[in-house]
Amino acid sequence: MEQVERIGVSFEKNLLSQFDKLIQEQGYQSRSEAIRDLIRERLSRRLLEHPGAKAVATVSIVYDHHSTELMKKLTSLQHNQLLQTICTMHVHLDHHDCMEVICLKGKVEQINKMADQLLAQKGVKLGKVNIIHAGTAE
Ligand code: NI
Repeated sequence: MEQVERIGVSFEKNLLSQFDKLIQEQGYQSRSEAIRDLIRERLSRRLLEHPGAKAVATVSIVYDHHSTELMKKLTSLQHNQLLQTICTMHVHLDHHDCMEVICLKGKVEQINKMADQLLAQKGVKLGKVNIIHAGTAE
């Protein structure tokens, strides 16, 4: 197990009470765990600023499946890219709309380029990208 170091941190009373309220709502058991997660999240965001950093991402899109041209384009985009499409999940939402969740692995710049292309396709109604740094956190 990794060695743990204890530190003392000072907070303004009001800031700390807002933080306690937030982490209680989120279900944290301790301040330490919440603070560790905040630091990890900040470090991860910093790493994602490097275009060449390794990352994984999900791209979720909602589109009308009657648009057959769009479906062809979505498939060819996934086959043509340098980055790896790990998997896709398809959900039939209603008579018209489908949701596709595409899991990607590659460099940050490649993932962002692919995500932009997916979201920009005609017929895509909604889209969201969630990108996570894939290296080991130091
Ligand atoms: Ni469908």
